[in-house]
Amino acid sequence: MLNFFQLPYEKNVFEGYLSSETLDFHYGKHHRAYFDNLVKLIDKTDLEKMTLEEIIRESFNQPNLKLVFNNAAQVFNHNFYWNSLTPNKKDPSDFLISRIEKDFDSMDLFKEKLKNKALAQFGSGWAWVVLEGEKIRVISTSNANNPLTQNQIPLICLDVWEHAYYIDYRNKRGDYLDNLIENLINWDFFENNLKSI
Ligand code: FE2
Repeated sequence: MLNFFQLPYEKNVFEGYLSSETLDFHYGKHHRAYFDNLVKLIDKTDLEKMTLEEIIRESFNQPNLKLVFNNAAQVFNHNFYWNSLTPNKKDPSDFLISRIEKDFDSMDLFKEKLKNKALAQFGSGWAWVVLEGEKIRVISTSNANNPLTQNQIPLICLDVWEHAYYIDYRNKRGDYLDNLIENLINWDFFENNLKSI
């Protein structure tokens, strides 16, 4: 039995960066619709007893389960996105900084690479920081696709579908990304994901 993700903060906590109107629509309408669609699609099927991650792996690349995959992956991606953000701005720990510097030379280069990957994603999709083997990498995926199906472990993600930023930033995806990367990334979530492997 899947449960709809509960935001770990109020919808107005990102005002100045993301408006409560954006969260009303993004969390309350878009994310909710993916969840409601998924629940309907798997009702009374074997998928109903599976975890979200299992449903995603089971439906990936199955032409008759394309809709299930799209909605399940979008639910996972949005759960992960909301957890990747925090209203309690805090610098990354020394451990995380040195781990990032190992693979990207500096925090600035890491942030630049993340922004550029997210900017270069053509159309709807996601930018992710993932662990692949021993290496932290920045990748992007289109539409609902996510790292779970690519043997990569997600650490944080940024939503670059237009619905994530259009109310507040119109077409300026770069401004949205600057604000998220500088002010809203939940470095503790990143580090916990890295350490839980
Ligand atoms: Fe979204």
